Amino acid sequence: MKFISIREAMKKGSGKVAIRGWVYRERGSNKFKFIVLRDAEGIMQCIIRKEKFNGDKFKEADKIQVEACMELEGEIKEDKRAPTGFEIDADNFNVVGRSENYPLTKDQSPEFLLDNRHLWLRSRRMNAILRIRNTYVVAREEFFQKKGFYRFDPPILQPIQCEGGSTLFEVKYYDDVTYLSQSWQLYAEAAVQSLERIYDTAPTFRAERFKTSRHLSEFWMVEMEAAWMNLHDVSEFAKEEIRYCLKKVLEKHEEDLKFLGQDVKKLKKVAEKPWPTIKYRDALKILKEKGMNVQFGKDLRTVEEETLMKHFDTPVVVTHYPKAVMAFYKPADPENPDEALCFDMLSPIGTEIVGGSQRSMNTEQMKKDLKKEGEDPKKYEWYFELRKFGGVPHSGYGVGLERVITWICNLDNIKDAIAFPRTMLRKSP
Ligand code: 4AD
Ligand code: MG
Repeated sequence: MKFISIREAMKKGSGKVAIRGWVYRERGSNKFKFIVLRDAEGIMQCIIRKEKFNGDKFKEADKIQVEACMELEGEIKEDKRAPTGFEIDADNFNVVGRSENYPLTKDQSPEFLLDNRHLWLRSRRMNAILRIRNTYVVAREEFFQKKGFYRFDPPILQPIQCEGGSTLFEVKYYDDVTYLSQSWQLYAEAAVQSLERIYDTAPTFRAERFKTSRHLSEFWMVEMEAAWMNLHDVSEFAKEEIRYCLKKVLEKHEEDLKFLGQDVKKLKKVAEKPWPTIKYRDALKILKEKGMNVQFGKDLRTVEEETLMKHFDTPVVVTHYPKAVMAFYKPADPENPDEALCFDMLSPIGTEIVGGSQRSMNTEQMKKDLKKEGEDPKKYEWYFELRKFGGVPHSGYGVGLERVITWICNLDNIKDAIAFPRTMLRKSP
């Protein structure tokens, strides 16, 4: 018989079916063996009755343990008591890969599950998160293709920094050293002068010294860069992109989101409501009302971002952060030179999910700012040449994919938003 997925089997609902997967739960008696089988998208209760099999074959069934890989064929019918409303009465089965004493049982510590991530990926929780992540990334591809953008793949080994030298991962490069990408941005700025509108999905590396629930050392940044766009254009575009992907996730994953404990009704409202844009200075006023005195000139810290977002129930764009503490490529606002033409988007749970800006066209200022950071502007000559030869006004931003997934999936920790998390304290499995 041809194997079909558990979902397809449920759609069929009656008659003979053949499915395959892994044993999610099992329980037996001397008359039957109950098995809940899972595949990539579904789970199915199956019953193996002793009366239908000879003694040896039933003994084989009796030995089946959790996470054994197997094929099973039989009659499917509706059964209200079964976890997903259907049951298959087996006529035949075959254990493809045995499993004995699967180490993951109920109520194990997060650290234990992280040590066993290679197995924990099979959990319904990780399965749901990874499928949502897939939907998000595919929706995003679709969004950018519809908008007429080109996918542009940047180098991952980069000899210069983009987001501050302190978080660079140094890599031995033959007899020299280079660094792992902190952002595609500087290379994207070269490519927009050819393709005008580009996006990517790329691994990104930061040697963060933070042990928080929102920092990874390796994450996926999904970035865009566009010629002719200014701060207003890109920050509105960022809202449109994230809203589009959020809606696609809501369309496809209502059940998964509920399983993850997300308030789907509330999230649907978020997807429909307008998302405000405020200035950094307005954010300081709101914080002051809430008893937090932040002086102009400091980037917002985690507690401040969290406090600010208690004021809102949707993502919020915050623009015009103080120029002095921003990366060298963020231009000063000509009307208020102590403010930069840049933005962050904060999620309703108070995390920074997007960082972006208009790009500076002032080479002399950028050289000064780089020097202040202890960088040698000579290493950036090629980047400055982009301004020398037909420099186009342009802007862009980067979305932290795992930060967005953490928010949408209602996760406590960003480590669950990626299959094999890398942090200051974890580099395996
Ligand atoms: O704000 P960041 O540092 O901006 C840039 O790198 C720009 N060059 C992007 C651009 O304009 N093309 O990083 C962008 C986003 C952050 O808003 C955050 O969501 C995420 O990347 N991010 C991290 N996510 C997980 N772990 C970390 N250590 C992260 N650092 C940044
Ligand atoms: Mg940032």
